[in-house]
Amino acid sequence: MVLSEGNKQIIRKLAKDIKDNAEALGADALARLFLLHPQTKTYFKKFTSFKANDASVKAHGCRVMDAVVGAAQHLDNLGEQLNFLAHKHGEELLVDPHNFHLFADCIAVTLAVHLPVFTPEVHCAVDKFLELLSHHLSSKYR
Ligand code: HEM
Repeated sequence: MVLSEGNKQIIRKLAKDIKDNAEALGADALARLFLLHPQTKTYFKKFTSFKANDASVKAHGCRVMDAVVGAAQHLDNLGEQLNFLAHKHGEELLVDPHNFHLFADCIAVTLAVHLPVFTPEVHCAVDKFLELLSHHLSSKYR
């Protein structure tokens, strides 16, 4: 999967919108993940609620979206940028990598619902970017 220069421009621009609203976007994406794919809740043992207005969901959503923004700002060295998180999820948290694709779909829907502009071109760039993100996060399982 390769991002074109056009895709990169779209993602870099999008990063600014996401950064301004990281907590709400992250909480919405996580709430979708937990509701659509309840098995993903098992990884978050300390959470007492899985709704978007819960403080833990908001705090974690913010951390996730900050990481997404960081990735969007380092499109030319994504592997290096995501190395820490790939280790964390692959070797420490042992998250089944299939879940990255489920979450990527939820993030895409969240962006489509909340961002002012989500044209087919933006959708395509987001889809490719999130697939790359999932690929790198899945890179430390062996
Ligand atoms: C786009 C994909 C994802 C990104 C960018 C992401 C990002 C992050 C970040 C930034 C952290 C905090 C790491 C730290 O500072 O120590 C984290 C922790 C964590 N992630 Fe992910 N994550 C993703 C997908 C997932 C998925 C799909 C699951 C499970 C279904 C998951 C489960 C966890 C868990 C259990 C933690 C630890 C939470 C805690 O310490 O309270 N992540 N993730």
